[in-house]
Amino acid sequence: MNADVVVESVSKRFGDVVAVDGVSFDVYRGEIFTLLGPSGCGKTTTLRIIAGLERPDRGRVYIGGKDVTDLPPQKRDVCLVFQEYAVFPHMSVYENIAFGLKIRRISPSDVGKRVSEVAEVLELTEHLEKRAGRVGLSEQQKIALARCMVVEPRVLLLDEPLTLVDARTREKMRRELREIQRKIGITMLYVTHDQLEALMLSDRIAVMSKGKLVQVGTPIEIYDNPQSLFVAQFIGSPTMNFIEGVLRKYGGSFILESGNFRIPLDDVAKLYNLENLMDREVVIGFRPEDGSIDAKGAVEGSVEVIEVVGDRLALHVRVFRDVVLKVYTTIYDDVVIGSKVRLSVNPNKVHVFDKISGRKPLPTGVGHGIP
Ligand SMILES: Nc1ncnc2c1ncn2[C@@H]1O[C@H](COP(=O)(O)OP(=O)(O)O)[C@@H](O)[C@H]1O
Ligand SMILES: [Mg+2]
Repeated sequence: MNADVVVESVSKRFGDVVAVDGVSFDVYRGEIFTLLGPSGCGKTTTLRIIAGLERPDRGRVYIGGKDVTDLPPQKRDVCLVFQEYAVFPHMSVYENIAFGLKIRRISPSDVGKRVSEVAEVLELTEHLEKRAGRVGLSEQQKIALARCMVVEPRVLLLDEPLTLVDARTREKMRRELREIQRKIGITMLYVTHDQLEALMLSDRIAVMSKGKLVQVGTPIEIYDNPQSLFVAQFIGSPTMNFIEGVLRKYGGSFILESGNFRIPLDDVAKLYNLENLMDREVVIGFRPEDGSIDAKGAVEGSVEVIEVVGDRLALHVRVFRDVVLKVYTTIYDDVVIGSKVRLSVNPNKVHVFDKISGRKPLPTGVGHGIP
């Protein structure tokens, strides 16, 4: 696969703060690659290092196969759309977009051609003569994007470009951004703290936590197979259900012991190598859509909250003193608040994590559990 950006073991500290800690990843040609993580995890710093606005303490950055670590921003063939993008409100939309080209000493006729091409793609043509301060927020966002696109960089870097627009505009912009990227086939490195946005927009996602890259994969891989408790907790809305307990084996059967309750885990033990987790604190997790009401289910609880979600109900079921599980159901004729129900979970969709390390055991057939 052709990599447009290669980040190799990059680290950066500010005083005592390690902002980026040994991060490596490749961004393939023509994909939307998203850095996702909570505020302060090092996303902006990573992007600024790629743009050349920040120098890494360690590691190298390659763009288009060339080592650019020691090159200034304007020699890197990238363009950064900032979080706090700003238009010049008194200049026309046209002048705003042309701005980046004029300082690059491109002939006026070429400037005109490129601006109108990009305006066409972004559907800004009808706004070109208006003052930039007079157009809507989503148009202003597009102006910031257009200013980068006219320069025709190899890679577009976008730092939370949609955080300032309202929820409805954000959804529209997300869709449009995806379409524009498909149309022009440009490589995009996108930064967001919003997991839903990342899941909707990206070809691949790199999840960051505390300066480190913790998992890279397609949205489906990240959603279906989180490799750590952190990713499991961070991805998904509603979030996964979690139950803490100690893993035990009684008479050859795997059990999660949680207070007075025991949950059989034999089906899960067929998938994961659990031996190394024996007698340790573990967290098991499953998504609401992977649980169901089932008269033969392993745990019983009482329904506390009922939410209507389209054609289904989301039930909040208290199963232990301090554990409430959320499951979806389409069978709800007899379900009222206070109903006793039994729950079962698709064992193929149960995730097990070591509570202390947050790591997931290896699948059965691969090595010996936790490495
Ligand atoms: N110029 C700076 N000086 C000091 N600390 C900084 C600077 N830039 C970022 N940091 C710190 O580095 C960490 C990562 O910041 P940042 O890359 O902005 O995270 P994110 O974009 O994921 O919110 C944070 O703790 C932040 O306070
Ligand atoms: Mg940031």
